[in-house]
Amino acid sequence: MESNIRNFVIIAHVDHGKSTLADRLLEITSTIPGRRMKPQYLDQLDLERERGITIKMAPVRMDYELDGTPYVLNLIDTPGHSDFQYEVSRALEAVEGAILLVDVTKGIQAQTLSNFRNARAAGLTIIGAVNKIDVAPENADRMAASLAELIGTSPEKIFHISGRTGAGVPELLRAVIRDVPPPRPRTADTAVGGRALIFDSLYNDHKGILAYVRVVDGEIRAGDDVVLVAGDTAVRVKEVGVFVPEHKTALRLKEGEIGYLATGLKEPALVRIGDTVFKTAPGGVAVPDRFALTGYREAAPVMFISFYPDGATKFEDLKKGFERLRLTDAALSFEPDANEALGRGLKVGFLGQLHFEITSTRLEREFGVNFLTSFPSIAYRVKHKGEFLIVKDPHDFPTDPEGVFQPMIRLEILSPSQYMNAVVNLGKNYQLEVIEIKNIGDNVSITARMPLAELIRDFDDQLKSISAGFASFSYEFDGEASADVERLEILLANEPVSALTRIVFKKDLEREGRATVERLKKLLPAEQFAVAIQARAEGRIIARETLAAMKKDVTGYLYGGDRSRKMKLWKKQKRGKERLKASGRVNLSAEIFREILKK
Ligand code: GTP
Repeated sequence: MESNIRNFVIIAHVDHGKSTLADRLLEITSTIPGRRMKPQYLDQLDLERERGITIKMAPVRMDYELDGTPYVLNLIDTPGHSDFQYEVSRALEAVEGAILLVDVTKGIQAQTLSNFRNARAAGLTIIGAVNKIDVAPENADRMAASLAELIGTSPEKIFHISGRTGAGVPELLRAVIRDVPPPRPRTADTAVGGRALIFDSLYNDHKGILAYVRVVDGEIRAGDDVVLVAGDTAVRVKEVGVFVPEHKTALRLKEGEIGYLATGLKEPALVRIGDTVFKTAPGGVAVPDRFALTGYREAAPVMFISFYPDGATKFEDLKKGFERLRLTDAALSFEPDANEALGRGLKVGFLGQLHFEITSTRLEREFGVNFLTSFPSIAYRVKHKGEFLIVKDPHDFPTDPEGVFQPMIRLEILSPSQYMNAVVNLGKNYQLEVIEIKNIGDNVSITARMPLAELIRDFDDQLKSISAGFASFSYEFDGEASADVERLEILLANEPVSALTRIVFKKDLEREGRATVERLKKLLPAEQFAVAIQARAEGRIIARETLAAMKKDVTGYLYGGDRSRKMKLWKKQKRGKERLKASGRVNLSAEIFREILKK
């Protein structure tokens, strides 16, 4: 008998309305009663609601009867920002179908294209829909035509919907049931009693790590002995359940179902995203490789930032915070780091700027961790004394390298045609090398190559601001190229401030050095003595400011003319200043660090 399960995702460019559409689906299927409904229900982190973006996908199971037949619909909402491509790719492996959503006020954008290509590559059935027709109904036909062209279908097959009003949503749901294929077993091998793919995980204080799984063959129940194949970890399943969207215990997870299983494991590294859960005989045995499902692409961090504990936070608190975050964010990676001024820290790899911002905010909010961060850096391959080194830390960058190589990316920028010149001009500040320009509907697509190090210099924000928010991009890694870079150091009272050291393109040295020095001068409170603020590169000072000494009136409270008492106080003040000067340290407070590192 054919399964009545349908597994699907909603994919779209950021803000095109996935979470809002998910809300309507929850309502139509009576999964969430109206009185409990709140906007973007599946965005469960506070931060997501606040910023209106999806960071973390929340799977949900909806029971729905159509024409007298009961169906189980498993929906995974996916994040839309390019930093979270990895999460999207995991979700795609767990489903058979995708709703590809396009906002009629924006049209096809860069992530629409990259999501579409990923979904197609994963072999999913793709159903197109144009959304927000309540705002701009006049655009709907035109957008539907472009979307149809992209998918390779006819415009009549594209649904016209509004996630806000609910118009067209029941028809779309009907199409999901009709067109998305039911799950089928992936192997005929009878040695497989139960096999599942881990697409996410969550830490639970009582039950240990919950593996979010898609059962691909057979079934898995509480009490089953399973092996997590990658690490050959034997586990007895404590509990299985489904997402309603809260966790609800179930008797078993059947073939094709999406749910969770409690592993009882406390060590996050053991439950790997993309790993296979394989049911074994009691005791657990090593599982032959042929039973491992095709693994997911590993998330590759593109920028590295060091975190150091600050204020009352201890290094252990910081580390624990990151370990906890990694439970819900498989893309997060970190290793120990140390800095003479800031002590022990962690060098953390991120998928991009937004990933960094969100992680920092979560660390503060959810774990009460206070920290300082270094400038972002990337990994360079450096030839020094005839050997190649990988340099992630600016402090390890040799003074006279024989060659420096940097990671390059290939971007596809999609922009309404009227902003094309602005985009190309912006590219000049970012070493953007245009490879091809072509038209896609009302948009131009610009394919280009650029150093990764330029991307993390705020390229995203700049692109948005010159195009009224319309231009967007996706990227992939594209080999390496030689890099014209130098180490830039900032000195306070002649002492380098280690956390401000960074690798900068030679063309930007002067400007960045000057900007930091000027910034510091504005931010630093007056000291007891004059302090030199300098930028140094290539063995010379390239920018300098002086922070004036504070003139504190220490005699103000003395009336009249007791000259000798005044002299005594002035002398005392002078001695104090000299003592401070001898100690040479000007302390940068956490606030100043934060301000400096802000754009
Ligand atoms: P990310 O998860 O961050 O990628 O966003 P999303 O695609 O989930 O978009 P979301 O549902 O958060 O919607 C983005 C914005 O568009 C919100 O302000 C919604 O209220 C609004 N919106 C979504 N659907 C509609 C619609 O059909 N009509 C109108 N007028 N606004 C909509």
